[in-house]
Amino acid sequence: MSKQLILALSKGRILDETLPLLADAGITPVEDLGKSRKLLFDTNLPDVKLVVIRATDVPTYVQLGAADLGVAGKDVLLEHGVEGLYEPLDLEIARCRLMTAGITGAEPARARRRVATKFVNVARRYYAEQGIQAEVIKLYGAMELAPLMNLADEIVDIVDTGNTLRANGMEPRELIAPISTRLVVNKAAMTMKHDRLKPLIARLREAVAARR
Ligand code: ADP
Ligand code: PRP
Ligand code: MG
Repeated sequence: MSKQLILALSKGRILDETLPLLADAGITPVEDLGKSRKLLFDTNLPDVKLVVIRATDVPTYVQLGAADLGVAGKDVLLEHGVEGLYEPLDLEIARCRLMTAGITGAEPARARRRVATKFVNVARRYYAEQGIQAEVIKLYGAMELAPLMNLADEIVDIVDTGNTLRANGMEPRELIAPISTRLVVNKAAMTMKHDRLKPLIARLREAVAARR
C-alpha cells in the first residue's frame, strides 16, 4: 500500500456539507469540485487525494481498498453492509430519518404488504423483524409515486421535512433508523496507514465537535 491517502466523497447533497468540514480539518481541494468534470482531485496536503463518486459506491471503494476512507450516509451503509469497514466518526451532517410511509389515512390492507424502495436489504430486514410479510419492490428513485400508482402499499425512504411525502398525499409511519453522514475507513488501511490516518480522523473529530 502506498503512503498516499485516498478519501472517497459522496457527490450530491452530502458533498456541500462535507467540504466545509474538511476545510475545518485542514483539507481543501486545489480546484473547485463543483466546476470540474474531473473525479480525482489533489488537495493542499500532498499525500491526500479526493475522489467524488456516487454515494452508493463509497462503501464499495473503501471496502475493497481503492479508497482508504470515505464519507457516506448511514442509510447507504445500512443497505450496503459494513464488512471490511470501520465507522469511527459520525460527521453529524445530512441528518434525516429512514422511515416507512404510506398514503395518508390508508390502512395497510393486504396480508402481504407490497413495499417499494431503493433500500431493499434494509426493508427486508425491517419487515422480517416486525413479523410482517412483505414483497419488496426495488426502485431507483421517486419512491413516493409508487403507492399513488398502486405499485405498492408502502415505501421505505428518507424523510427530512416530510414535504415530499405531504406533497404526494402520504404520511410517515414507522421510524427504521435515524440517519446522518459517517466517516468510514478501510480496516486494512487503519492498520497499515495508522500513523497517517490517526491525526486526520482526530482533526475531523475536532471539527465536528467544534460545531456542536
Ligand atoms: P441520492 O442521489 O442517492 O439520493 P443524495 O445526494 O440525494 O443521493 O443523498 C445522499 C445522502 O444524503 C443520503 O444517502 C442520505 O444519507 C442523505 N439524504 C438524502 N436525502 C436527504 C434529505 N432530504 N435530507 C437530509 N439528508 C438526506
Ligand atoms: C430525498 C428523499 C426524499 C426527500 C425527503 O430526495 O429521497 O424524497 O429527500 O426529504 P423531505 O422529507 O425534506 O421532503 P432528494 O431530494 O435527494 O431527491 P432524489 O430523489 O434525487 O434522491
Ligand atoms: Mg436523494
